[in-house]
Amino acid sequence: MESFSTLIRTASHEQHVEAETSTFMSDLLGGRLGVSAYARYTEQLWFVYEALENAAGRLAADPVAGPFIRPELFRLAALERDLAHLRGSGWRAGVGALPATRAYADRVRECAERWPGGYVAHHYTRYLGDLSGGQIIRDRAEKTWGFARKGDGVRFYVFEQIPNPAAFKRCYRELLDGVAVDDLEKQRIVAECKRAFALNTEVFRALSEEFPLSA
Ligand code: HEM
Repeated sequence: MESFSTLIRTASHEQHVEAETSTFMSDLLGGRLGVSAYARYTEQLWFVYEALENAAGRLAADPVAGPFIRPELFRLAALERDLAHLRGSGWRAGVGALPATRAYADRVRECAERWPGGYVAHHYTRYLGDLSGGQIIRDRAEKTWGFARKGDGVRFYVFEQIPNPAAFKRCYRELLDGVAVDDLEKQRIVAECKRAFALNTEVFRALSEEFPLSA
């Protein structure tokens, strides 16, 4: 039988293409957006990682989600540095979640509280993506808005404690393959992963509405 890591990757492939080619991502990667759009996007990520990482301590001992809780992945501190750079030291007073972001963060919290398998789906969708395509976004952001390479503004994309992302991803896939659940639960996790992608796509849609290109 196909390994779980292959299954989850294959099952979400179509939605990955959709997210990657969304208007907001295309405009961002195409260098067509101002830094305010990038800052607004970073701010949305902050709400999502707050939900993911505030639950981490509690889930560390969970037999299903626990093995995935790796402090070297944590992004909240990096996001906070980026936001301080992008918005100034008073950034906290100005942050606001878009309705789509609130829905996404709420779903992450709900899984974290009630369903460790669902939490794994959200964990995978974010962190493995950040370790992969995130590097392409970082490169674009540095070039488009002039951030220092791997410096303030793009620290979210820099995993200081993961010197070899490819090796880390291999280990992560082994964790997925060894996840302590039965086949039916694996199907549910795959479905939640698709939902996680859809939640991301909704945030992109909202952002592209807030930052339309004056064609
Ligand atoms: C323009 C935006 C994006 C680009 C250019 C991009 C690019 C990539 C690339 C090149 C990989 C393959 C890495 C490898 O084979 O090791 C990858 C994997 C991945 N991406 Fe993205 N991506 C983007 C957006 C996203 C988004 C929005 C999400 C979800 C929130 C996401 C989630 C993932 C996941 C979960 C994987 C791991 C697949 C696996 O190996 O199991 N990506 N991405």
